[in-house]
Amino acid sequence: MQTLSIIRGDGIGPEIMSATIKVLDALECGLHYEFVDAGMTALANHGDLLPSTTLQSIERNGVALKGPLTTPIGKGFSSVNVQLRKHFDLYANVRPALSIPGVSSRYQNIDIITVRENTEGAYLAEGQHFSEDGETAFATIKTTRHGCERLIRYAFGLAIRTRRKKITVVHKANIIKSCSGMFLDVARLVAPEYPDIRMEEMIVDNACMQLVLNPHQFDVIVTTNLFGDILSDLCAGLVGGLGMAPGSNIGEKIAIFEAVHGSAPDIAGKSLANPCALLLASADMLDHLNMRDKSQAIRSAIRTVLGAAPERTTPDLGGAGTTESFTETLIACCQNKLQ
Ligand SMILES: NC(=O)c1ccc[n+]([C@@H]2O[C@H](COP(=O)([O-])OP(=O)(O)OC[C@H]3O[C@@H](n4cnc5c(N)ncnc54)[C@H](O)[C@@H]3O)[C@@H](O)[C@H]2O)c1
Repeated sequence: MQTLSIIRGDGIGPEIMSATIKVLDALECGLHYEFVDAGMTALANHGDLLPSTTLQSIERNGVALKGPLTTPIGKGFSSVNVQLRKHFDLYANVRPALSIPGVSSRYQNIDIITVRENTEGAYLAEGQHFSEDGETAFATIKTTRHGCERLIRYAFGLAIRTRRKKITVVHKANIIKSCSGMFLDVARLVAPEYPDIRMEEMIVDNACMQLVLNPHQFDVIVTTNLFGDILSDLCAGLVGGLGMAPGSNIGEKIAIFEAVHGSAPDIAGKSLANPCALLLASADMLDHLNMRDKSQAIRSAIRTVLGAAPERTTPDLGGAGTTESFTETLIACCQNKLQ
């Protein structure tokens, strides 16, 4: 039996995690759960935002499902999400943006996966410091050939597994000739090994415009850390925002699945939280565990309920339901799908 490390998270985290576990149990996924703390809950319970017992649990189980974590504002607190990525070398951040009928959005029929490098590059801005007079700020961009190659190979592998046709390599090699140039160079070297996937190159500023003007031209986007951080939110915006956006952080041995949104402290404890992003993340996790019939049941139930019974969804989706009642409707629909 597969054991999952479960981080309930802060704010709305426990509510959407409880909803997600109810759905997984109703689908009889045969999963065992090990509950561990991170974020503010861990700081209160263990005096540490990321206790070693949490790291050991994830190391042992290889798969974690994570609720959103609040990062305290102020000096001395580094993001727990960034710490997890670094600790487990979770080099690929995978963010699908998929149109769901019933979700208000600018476009329909969007299906784009952004594969973002997750461990190096400008996003990490290593060695940040100021000059003595405080007038100049410094940071380093580090890119490695190894980091580029494993990410680009992951993106091509994902494209093949998900029967996609095209990868767009997004870069700024015309200006950042060293780091972005290396990323593009590695992509050009690797691409011929995957003749069934067409590779296209696009400079990041043009990619932003093209995504807004004609998003249907995109299939899989592969890019560096900071560009991927921004482009994946842009893609989420094309399909109605972060409320339905899952994300996976994948390494050689460990994978952590999460909702892209934050801990939503403004609605925590009010049963207003929409569980769909974490549910979709759990569907990606079930794919990772080779339980495709269960993952498809979750995705299909979400599409069905949003299309046929929008009044049963949570208020952010225009419905009048609570987290619990929406979850019960989804469970009934999931069970029908599997029959
Ligand atoms: N992956 C993560 O753990 C993660 C990601 C982003 C932000 N955060 C943290 O979350 C905290 C709050 O951040 P924020 O307010 O900028 O962003 P947020 O995503 O928590 O909330 C933004 C808005 O979206 C709404 N919202 C978010 N998720 C929702 C859901 N599932 N259902 C209904 N409404 C939802 C909120 O009510 C709020 O109005 C911060 O401490 C931030 O550091 C964590």
